[in-house]
Amino acid sequence: MEATQRNRCIGVFDSGLGGLTVVRRLMEQMPGEDIVYLGDSARVPYGTKSAETVRRFAMQDAAFLMRFDPKLVVVACNTASASALEHLQGRLEVPVIGMIRPGAAAAAAQAPSGPFGVIATEGTIASGAYQRELAALAPGCEVLTGSCPLLVPIVEEGRGNDDPIVLHVLGDYLRLLQRKRPPVLVLGCTHYPLLTRAIAKLMGPDVALIDSGQAAALAVKRHLLDNDLAAPACRTGTLRCYSTDNPDRFAAVAGRFLGRAVSGVHWVGTDELNL
Ligand code: DGL
Repeated sequence: MEATQRNRCIGVFDSGLGGLTVVRRLMEQMPGEDIVYLGDSARVPYGTKSAETVRRFAMQDAAFLMRFDPKLVVVACNTASASALEHLQGRLEVPVIGMIRPGAAAAAAQAPSGPFGVIATEGTIASGAYQRELAALAPGCEVLTGSCPLLVPIVEEGRGNDDPIVLHVLGDYLRLLQRKRPPVLVLGCTHYPLLTRAIAKLMGPDVALIDSGQAAALAVKRHLLDNDLAAPACRTGTLRCYSTDNPDRFAAVAGRFLGRAVSGVHWVGTDELNL
């Protein structure tokens, strides 16, 4: 493969800031890659919107990223992966990797016949995407699901693992899962890894937590290596961020999701995504 192919960027999009938890994992796994990230902060959350709307937004987000000639697009949003992945794969001329299949595969590797727990947004759970992927990997398995719509705004507000409101809300959402104690629980939303410690505390040490973003980052790495598309290890990759809403707010909050400061966020209007 020509060096120019390997040096093309990875395009990553999410409904807002949450996908930066996935970028963090991508950067850990592949520090030499250039990443262009689009956060559709003007239209977040996707998790409460219809599948049709999410598909339309996802197509616009991906089309924007295609302007950067990426070698691969990552749908770093579980909700968009659940509703739009096949749609995108059928329309983009580059490989597209989402969160659901890697997350489900990591869960099945941990507990081959389940039962599985999955927590995610309303849209992801309603789509049945995790349930389908897990059933394909472990036919007849039980999948216990819970949608947790309050967690996205709570995390964005900066509340963390020890916050009493977080523990109260989680306690309510996780009640059924705490009773059933599946051996593995998939964190099927970009924001939930920031609450790993609180979720682990409530579920107990026997429940393994799967970060779908980490699983997806490993799937991306495997794809690049298998196809001779990985950037040379000697390179230092770059991260360029675009937001469809206030770039200053994006930059101010992004650090918590990415684990490092983000500067120079560019604004792109949603009307420009329609072009
Ligand atoms: N990024 C979304 C996900 O992973 C969470 C935020 C939203 O609802 O848009 O499902």
